[in-house]
Amino acid sequence: MDKLIVHGGATLRGSINISGSKNASLPILAGAILTGEDCIIRRVPDVSDTNYMIQILSALGADVERSSGTVRITCAEISDEAPYELVRRMRASICVMGPLLARKGRAVVSLPGGCVIGDRPVDLHLRGLEALGAKVEFEGGNIILTAKDGLKGAEIDLRGTHGPTVLGTDNVMMAATLAEGITVIESAAAEPEVLDLANFLNAMGAKITGAGTRRIVIEGVKELKGVEHTVIPDRIEAGTFMAAAALAGEEVKLRRVCREHMKAITAAIEQSGHRVEFNEAGDVCTIHRGDNLKGVDLVTAPYPGYPTDMQAQMTALLATTPGISVIKDTIFPQRFMHCAELKRMGADIKVDNGTAIVRGVEKLSAAPVMASDLRASAALVLAALTATGSTQISRLYHIDRGYEHIDEKLLMLGANVERVKER
Ligand code: EPZ
Repeated sequence: MDKLIVHGGATLRGSINISGSKNASLPILAGAILTGEDCIIRRVPDVSDTNYMIQILSALGADVERSSGTVRITCAEISDEAPYELVRRMRASICVMGPLLARKGRAVVSLPGGCVIGDRPVDLHLRGLEALGAKVEFEGGNIILTAKDGLKGAEIDLRGTHGPTVLGTDNVMMAATLAEGITVIESAAAEPEVLDLANFLNAMGAKITGAGTRRIVIEGVKELKGVEHTVIPDRIEAGTFMAAAALAGEEVKLRRVCREHMKAITAAIEQSGHRVEFNEAGDVCTIHRGDNLKGVDLVTAPYPGYPTDMQAQMTALLATTPGISVIKDTIFPQRFMHCAELKRMGADIKVDNGTAIVRGVEKLSAAPVMASDLRASAALVLAALTATGSTQISRLYHIDRGYEHIDEKLLMLGANVERVKER
């Protein structure tokens, strides 16, 4: 297991390219199951989550070729049983369920385990697929879905107690592309990654309207064909580097971003006193560290609200921002694993009932810390950039799940970091 040593105090300068979106790539890779023809998907980030998905597709019988960011997948012959050993390692594997059911009339996928950010139920996924005519059974930790007479369009409301479900919307939308008749998904997730998946499916010949809004309408078709698609930029990676630049940067430039997808993140960074400038096309932004900083109140919400995936990173930035900040995560109320580690570095944070109250301190100081989940780990890297001393972050595999070459990108910006093999 690798660890990252971050020597605090370096000023970040220069520019980096933001990678393609991990959270758009995962359902799009799964969507290739819906056709027997070649799908060419570009700008797939080289992270362990996309590698897991590629392994799952190969284990299902897909022919997969990957060269740098481009993946070619051909699901000519495909099995309907996803391998437990691989599925259990990544919760997002659940998004093969909808395409498998639509293509094969049967899908066997293991119930995902929980994870540190909270219980990860799939009841909304199953509500939607059942509404399309699937029979749902559970056996030996597996979900077994069957639809021997094929799937039929239906009106489905996917809202849960914590709002819409991103992967649940993806699963139902993908299954509905090959169902007979019209499907309407109410209370759909409107994340850019859902819209990117819908664009990919429409290019395959699906008939989807309304993606990117709360109401998606899918007219079923007989079959889908191969396609070429380029994945959207990763707005969470971009937001993470935006926070790094606000913390420790001087005019850091991020290329290959999408201004439209980053409004809530940009607003939060600017509310705390920094300045973000986009170019005319909105695909390059420059962050200017402010000198009149202040705490902010943040509540995470489904898109276009402030993303839960940027909650930990913003907490790290606010830990040394003068004033009091109140951060509430309405989507994953337990997603505060990073706070205990930040407190070991000297942060003043009280966590209670899904809310973190952060009192900005002058400086953090290095301490050996442990990554716990993808975004919490990124928060620890950010905090270490300006902490006094050298911070060791262990269990780096959490970061490698969703950030493509994060140490190389930080080095390109002048950060003083080194990845070392942990004995
Ligand atoms: C996606 O997960 C993202 N993952 C997560 O990013 C992100 O945090 C999450 O959406 C919320 O934005 C990918 O896209 C691969 P949800 P997903 O279903 O779809 C509850 C990262 O860091 N819920 O939108 O699994 C659920 O418990 C990852 O990149 C149900 O109650 O999340 C949560 O409270 C972490 N029943 C809320 O809905 C269900 O059937 C939103 O979850 C499904 C979800």
